[in-house]
Amino acid sequence: MSKTIAVIRGDGIGPEIVQATLRVLDSLRCGLDYRFAEAGMAALEAQGELLPQATLDAISACGVALKGPLTTPIGDGFSSLNVELRRRFDLYANVRPAISFPNTKARYSGIDILTVRENTEGAYLSEGQTVSADGETAQSIIRITRRGSERIVRYAFELARRKGRKKVTVVHKANIMKTTSGLFLNVAREIARDYPEIACNEMIVDNTCMQLVMRPEQFDVIVTTNLFGDILSDLCAGLVGGLGLAPGSNIGSGAAIFEAVHGSAPDIAGKGIANPCALLLAAADMLDHLDLVAQGTRVRAAIRATLAAADPRMTPDLGGSGSSERFADALIERLQTR
Ligand code: NAI
Ligand code: MG
Repeated sequence: MSKTIAVIRGDGIGPEIVQATLRVLDSLRCGLDYRFAEAGMAALEAQGELLPQATLDAISACGVALKGPLTTPIGDGFSSLNVELRRRFDLYANVRPAISFPNTKARYSGIDILTVRENTEGAYLSEGQTVSADGETAQSIIRITRRGSERIVRYAFELARRKGRKKVTVVHKANIMKTTSGLFLNVAREIARDYPEIACNEMIVDNTCMQLVMRPEQFDVIVTTNLFGDILSDLCAGLVGGLGLAPGSNIGSGAAIFEAVHGSAPDIAGKGIANPCALLLAAADMLDHLDLVAQGTRVRAAIRATLAAADPRMTPDLGGSGSSERFADALIERLQTR
């Protein structure tokens, strides 16, 4: 079976890590074809627009995209491209795995947490933000809907079921935010009943922060609203050593976009030393999404083994003396000898 995915090389280190990632994907010989499209500064320079229609068309046609980081220019009139993509394709679930890898500078080991964040409502609405005429009072609204809560919680439980996970923790602040967080929690309780084989517990967000730092091993899947999920997923990335190994996926009714959590790293762009692992782990999640679960698992295993062996071809941020390309060579070698 051949499947075409849209590929956006992106800005800064984007082209370097995308190149390394596609070489590793090619070595799996799983029938992926690529339709390249531009976005970000690369698109602005070549086509005069940050997010050309042709790119949106490519993402809709393929349904799945692998995306390098995009630089959003600073200044008026440029809204975040990631926010725009989220809106266009109704990317309601932001899924961020935080997994411990060997030989990193992380403070913890043995962590494997999946954070599922609602990505379209909650406290992050662009509308409804006001400032009083005297500039003394600012307000914004939080909107939680039954539909929005149902689909994110169901997504989290379906993901847990598919991946054989044991527990979903619903994170909320319903004790204070009784209407909004309360609705989310009530809906979550209803949905949880459809998944009797998966344990469901509830935790208030501030306690969750403390528990994540003190006993992270108690967490399996976390599902929560937009603002809490934004903060908790970065907290979880910090537990396992930061951005270099942090993938993210944005799943919607219109498309699914897989990317690294980090940005375009202008400070090291063009040097060929960017760590491709976060994007590779996103690509592994993309393979899972495409029902190529065995291949996704092989990619993660190859990364794990390469880190465990402290292969000198790893990039400098992981303590190696290699480059994006040499790192890809090391991974391909492992994938071919299995
Ligand atoms: P950044 O994540 O690009 O860089 C932060 C630090 O981490 C830098 O020192 C960088 O060298 C390092 N780093 C990041 N990725 C790395 C990798 N793969 N290998 C080795 N080192 C790595 O964050 P920053 O500097 O705040 O943002 C730069 C640009 O990226 C901005 O224009 C921002 O808007 C954009 N950005 C885009 C994102 C996306 O498209 N999803 C996400 C975050 C930022
Ligand atoms: Mg964030």
